[in-house]
Amino acid sequence: MKVFILGGDGFCGWPTSLHLSNLAHEVTIIDNLSRRNIDNELEAGSLTPIKPMGTRLKTWRETTGHTIHYERLDVAKNYHRLLTLIQDEKPDAIVHFAEQRAAPYSMKSSAHKRYTVDNNLNATHNVLAAITESGLDIHLAHLGTMGVYGYGTAGMKIPEGYLPIEITTDDGQRVRQEILYPTNPGSIYHMTKTQDQLFFAYYAKNDHLRISDLHQGIVWGTHTPETQLDDNLINRFDYDGDYGTVLNRFLMQAAVNYPLTIHGTGGQTRAFIHIRDTVRCIQLALENPPERGNRVQILNQMTETHRIRDLAKLVAQITGAEIAHVDNPRNEDSENDLHVHNDLFLDLGLEPTTLQAGLLEEVTHTAKKYAHNADKTKIPATATWTKRQKPGVPTV
Ligand SMILES: NC(=O)c1ccc[n+]([C@@H]2O[C@H](COP(=O)([O-])OP(=O)(O)OC[C@H]3O[C@@H](n4cnc5c(N)ncnc54)[C@H](O)[C@@H]3O)[C@@H](O)[C@H]2O)c1
Repeated sequence: MKVFILGGDGFCGWPTSLHLSNLAHEVTIIDNLSRRNIDNELEAGSLTPIKPMGTRLKTWRETTGHTIHYERLDVAKNYHRLLTLIQDEKPDAIVHFAEQRAAPYSMKSSAHKRYTVDNNLNATHNVLAAITESGLDIHLAHLGTMGVYGYGTAGMKIPEGYLPIEITTDDGQRVRQEILYPTNPGSIYHMTKTQDQLFFAYYAKNDHLRISDLHQGIVWGTHTPETQLDDNLINRFDYDGDYGTVLNRFLMQAAVNYPLTIHGTGGQTRAFIHIRDTVRCIQLALENPPERGNRVQILNQMTETHRIRDLAKLVAQITGAEIAHVDNPRNEDSENDLHVHNDLFLDLGLEPTTLQAGLLEEVTHTAKKYAHNADKTKIPATATWTKRQKPGVPTV
């Protein structure tokens, strides 16, 4: 299969590119390196020493004999270059990771809100318009987020995208139908993902594009079998207050003897998936595209849910780290339950990497090994959701 990976230099995109290339798919990465530029802006960086794209690709070629092509291109801005690439290369599938993906970064200031909306919505719409204009039957697999559903329960397991409802028509008939599960975004970033859903629904209906939207949980872990083949192929590991995701932050905090910072009560429940399962899910999604003319195929790409304070306890048990409760910079419920259906990926053959099985390896192989690269001043979460919220800074 010929596959374009938009955002293929990022945390999920890089290991996915290697995984698909290793399966002998012809992979082209398209990335404008905006994530590396944001590192410069934030004066923060990956805990792991990631290499420039040229070194990554050369090492991959020398190690495996597979070639990955690369185009530096802003998907949100360079529409005609994107269209020409699609027309010339005629990919069978496009995997779309190319968005600004940090909720705290999207809430830092009006400029960050506007950048996130501008970048994410234009990137997604440009891809859809370009596939349509090309006239090619390309399967688009997009990385959405569990956050589009919000983090409440309506007393039921969250379904995979669609909610069955029954309405009573004006003439008294009861009609059943399925609608997109009502969205409830908790940040500007999440709001862009909810808008993406409407773009997809429209293009699937109007232009019969084949689209899979993968509502992913929080990704943890760093390595996949392919990124471990050579140090030059190492994946990024974000731990700073804007881009670090909660579990990887705990692992790194434990490794540098910094208290595990729980925002608020830690009663928030979130969905998780290991990076090894992310790349496998994308493979499964590409191997099982929807039929042309069908509605968007939505799959919940997560394997387990945990309450944040329980995660902190688990990491503390393994590492002996202290726990610190700090102000919650986010505007969210202090406690929530979360029950999620993920049967579609399990039915396709996903065998989840569980937290219990993978956590210790992650602490020792990554967080401790690269702890010397950590800048502790970058750990606190400083972006606040409203002026009422306070930054998540520990008093130590
Ligand atoms: N990491 C997670 O925990 C997580 C959880 C749920 C969903 N997701 C989704 O998965 C996708 C990838 O996440 P990630 O963690 O790999 O993020 P990342 O920031 O590490 O990677 C995104 C990549 O896209 C590139 N990019 C951004 N805008 C672009 C543009 N306009 N043109 C070209 N390239 C562009 C960036 O340079 C970067 O390399 C995102 O859409 C994100 O919303 C991630």
